Amino acid sequence: MTPANLAVIYYSATGTVHAMAQRLAAAGEKSGAEVRLRQVAELAPREAIASNAAWSQHFDRTKHEPKATADDIVWADAVLLGSPTRYGNIASQLKQFLDTLGPQWVQGLLADKVYAGFTASMTKHGGQESTLLALYNTMHHFGGIVAAPGYTDPVKFTDGNPYGVSHVTGGNNDLPLTEEDYAALDHLASRVVKIAGKLARV
Ligand SMILES: Cc1cc2nc3c(=O)[nH]c(=O)nc-3n(C[C@H](O)[C@H](O)[C@H](O)COP(=O)(O)O)c2cc1C
Repeated sequence: MTPANLAVIYYSATGTVHAMAQRLAAAGEKSGAEVRLRQVAELAPREAIASNAAWSQHFDRTKHEPKATADDIVWADAVLLGSPTRYGNIASQLKQFLDTLGPQWVQGLLADKVYAGFTASMTKHGGQESTLLALYNTMHHFGGIVAAPGYTDPVKFTDGNPYGVSHVTGGNNDLPLTEEDYAALDHLASRVVKIAGKLARV
């Protein structure tokens, strides 16, 4: 059987969503998928990045990592999209990437794929769910199949986000991912790979 193609595409300013994306990519590979892990391009002015040490360090550490292109989504059977929460919405860097996909969208090349999202926010009720729902607006316009995790595994009753996977970074924006987060990320990746495999057999 041909392995499913999984694209993990994300924006991260200070590294949290990057760590989530790395875990998803590893879990996707464990589930038998061929994986592309891609960051979207940074668009913020240099001065803005320089004003935040954590942002600056993460930018320097990851600036040579492969950048997302339209082909990464066209190639994929399943796509996981991640962004920090920005006022309850996705970051403009990820939105800008999505907004470059018009040519592929009008040709129907983004449709009939499995999509789900992941996010992080500083505070517990800081807009994680609205960020994921905002992300899914675009997936609906693609004609994508949104495979939100729901409560399809006992881990979801622990991490408690049926819309996707999310992590709270805390007041200093530095709380590391927990075992609970890892379990929810592993479940999300294996679930979208499994559903993509089922769709391939239809
Ligand atoms: C402009 C801006 C808006 C933000 N809005 C929110 C918010 O509405 N709620 C919240 O809890 N955190 C908010 N945050 C905090 C980020 O969500 C948090 O730093 C991020 O998830 C860390 O992810 P990263 O390390 O991958 O960049 C905001 C941060 C910035 C810079």
